[in-house]
Amino acid sequence: PFEWYREMRKNSPVYREGNMIHIFKYNTISKILSDHQNFSSQFRDLLGEEMAAMLNEKTTPSILLLDPPLHTTLRGLVGSAFTPRSIELFEPRIREIARMLAHAIVEKENSDIVSDLSYQLPIRVISEMLGVPESDSEIFRDWSDKLATSLGRGPDIETQYDMADYFYKKIDRNSKGNNLISRLSTVEMDGRKLSDKEIAGFAILLLVAGNETTTNLITNAILSLYDHPEIYNEMRKTPSLIPGVVEETLRYRSPVQSTRRYSKIDTEIEGEEILKNDILALYLGSANRDEEAFEDGESFNPYRKEKRHMAFGQGIHFCLGAPLARLEARIALEEFSKAVPGFEIEKPSPDDRIDSDIMYGFRKLNLKVNRS
Ligand code: HEM
Repeated sequence: PFEWYREMRKNSPVYREGNMIHIFKYNTISKILSDHQNFSSQFRDLLGEEMAAMLNEKTTPSILLLDPPLHTTLRGLVGSAFTPRSIELFEPRIREIARMLAHAIVEKENSDIVSDLSYQLPIRVISEMLGVPESDSEIFRDWSDKLATSLGRGPDIETQYDMADYFYKKIDRNSKGNNLISRLSTVEMDGRKLSDKEIAGFAILLLVAGNETTTNLITNAILSLYDHPEIYNEMRKTPSLIPGVVEETLRYRSPVQSTRRYSKIDTEIEGEEILKNDILALYLGSANRDEEAFEDGESFNPYRKEKRHMAFGQGIHFCLGAPLARLEARIALEEFSKAVPGFEIEKPSPDDRIDSDIMYGFRKLNLKVNRS
């Protein structure tokens, strides 16, 4: 999509197509994301009532799709269960899983980096965080895959119901446990706790929002390192470069390319008339390559100083899972680069791209380990 973005930034940075307004520049997108009063995430207000009622039967709308004041309350509650500290505690376990996967890749010589590493790590980590026992991991994975494929195609209500029922049974209001469901069951702020529906809804959101995105981040990083073997060599000698590689991958090959808001008012954006209820498609992946925000934005440079990319969004909906995604990607690259001295990749064809306007990633990436 990157060529199209470049063209649009230059010629039509705010572009109307019916009631959809496509927006490509960093500063414009940044202003819209910071103005949640006028530009809403609460799309169920535009949905038919029947659909909204069905969705709301077993889960409440996820925080991703809520405006304040409910967004503020729920984000505070789940944020206090899913803290950067609770994520850090998981680091040794993440490393153990990543190391095992990296070693298996070296032993196999030829592997598909998606199925052997990038897909495996996030799903295993989140299952363990949620306290899903090994015996349920198969069914859990199946649900997670179904939810991922439903993205952009409308919600898969049946799977959401199945998952909600599964999590209802795990809720224990007196739990002293430390897994995420226990914590969500017991957090309290200003005398308010999360309801059963809210807990189930949040558990589902973690899978929808966190798995495929992190998978793509890891895959996209390895692809970018293949394009830049000099950086891979440097990174093996100096692992402190790895966080820079992760940030630059987020910017340069953003796993989430776009997000949406709708306008609650008649207004104008950069001279373009906007009507109430118009949908704004915000291309984060384009903002992240905007030359006005990033010098030499079309090249991959993990040493760059400006790091204010928008790969995790901006404002009140800033990705709650960013610390986890960064940690998983960093550890995956650390363990991968320790185990793999060098590698060749079969250049993916456009058909190998994930078929989505929102997600940027690959369904497979064949890799051969170089031993010397
Ligand atoms: C929100 C990207 C990983 C949980 C967001 C948003 C973006 C994003 C762009 C904001 C959407 C908007 O404003 O409309 C990413 C990327 C990831 C990633 C690129 C990986 C590389 C994760 C993980 C989790 C997670 C691992 C949790 C396990 C969430 C949640 C929100 C969110 C709960 C909603 C926050 C809110 O509405 O207040 N993410 N995400 N994400 N993300 Fe992530």
